[in-house]
Amino acid sequence: MAVLVTGGAGFIGSHTAVELINSGKEIIIVDNLCNSNIQSVENIKKITNINNIPFFEYDCCCKKKLTEIFQKNHIESVIHFAGLKAVGESVEQPLKYYSNNLKSTLTLCEVMNKFNCNKLVFSSSATVYGSPETVPIKETFPTSTTNPYGTTKLMIENILKDICIANPNFSVACLRYFNPIGAHQSGLLGEVPNGIPNNLMPYITQVAVGKLKILSVFGNDYPTHDGTGVRDYIHVVDLAKGHLNALTYIENHCGFETFNLGTGVGYSVLDIIKTFEEINNITIPYKITERRPGDVAVCYADPTKSKDLLNWQANLSLKDMCRDSWNFTKSTFK
Ligand code: NAD
Ligand code: UFG
Repeated sequence: MAVLVTGGAGFIGSHTAVELINSGKEIIIVDNLCNSNIQSVENIKKITNINNIPFFEYDCCCKKKLTEIFQKNHIESVIHFAGLKAVGESVEQPLKYYSNNLKSTLTLCEVMNKFNCNKLVFSSSATVYGSPETVPIKETFPTSTTNPYGTTKLMIENILKDICIANPNFSVACLRYFNPIGAHQSGLLGEVPNGIPNNLMPYITQVAVGKLKILSVFGNDYPTHDGTGVRDYIHVVDLAKGHLNALTYIENHCGFETFNLGTGVGYSVLDIIKTFEEINNITIPYKITERRPGDVAVCYADPTKSKDLLNWQANLSLKDMCRDSWNFTKSTFK
């Protein structure tokens, strides 16, 4: 009985693969490597000391290939990370995002149905809350989106909800991640962004390593404690562990449920820079620039539901996140 991990070579999927193996689960990874590298699968093996992790370099949009995996293995549940995630690119190439993210999920669900596999953990995002009117954000808040990437997440949530209505045996935990950063403590797994990073932490680490000159802080006139944007940064290892709790939950409950995976604490851009500088003893040159269009001032989770129903909460600190992000970038790029 195995857990199929789609997108398991990627940033969050690889960390989750490690936690699953460490908890004694048998896993199978499928990833087309469109935004990752086979090296991360090798590094999962290194960290866990397991040499025989089945890996399929297949596209989840391909029904024939997915069917082959389900035919050859007894798959009990699926954690579905596979998807494209760059907000800016999704605005420029919406079809690429709708096609990949929707097709891969629809195909996966069709194949799961065929093989009577009805337990799914889905990677959603806090982006489905659009521009929230108040914080902390609860799962019951209204949803809306501001870009095609976010719309794919919301569409998939709705599709999964409908599947659960049609099939009372189907069980979905839809995990709405806040801002995952950090890396594995071994320095072997982390986020390797394609090209110039859009997100804050990868930008900071690339400035620190000398690949980029200066960080632009997008706006210092927000209604926050220091004027810069506030987010709920969560260590990727804490996030990965949440998937194990979600698996346990869906083993015992049917139907569709959403969960916030965040710490419940918001930090500003300047808080992040300061903590990164202090813990790593590095100076990050930065300049204040215009606000980035589409950014909200403040976004952080109310993680109470995850604590109550999943028995999960984040434990690692912002210092841990800044130290581990730098440790990984140092060993990867220096
Ligand atoms: P990632 O790009 O590192 O990992 C995604 C993996 O999926 C990659 O390895 C990629 O090669 C693979 N993939 C993409 N399309 C595929 C397809 N059709 N078939 C097979 N493999 C495919 O991204 P991540 O940060 O690990 O994110 C994982 C999931 O979590 C994504 O669905 C993403 O949208 C979601 N998410 C991420 C964040 C974040 O900030 N990182 C926040 C919220 C939600
Ligand atoms: N920021 C900068 N400079 C940069 C990059 C970011 O000042 O070079 C600021 C942003 O303005 C924001 C904060 O840093 O205030 C965080 O920005 P990120 O781009 O790291 O993260 P976002 O909160 O904008 O978006 C992320 C993911 C989305 C996801 C969203 C909610 O990129 O996919 O979190 O989960 F939808």
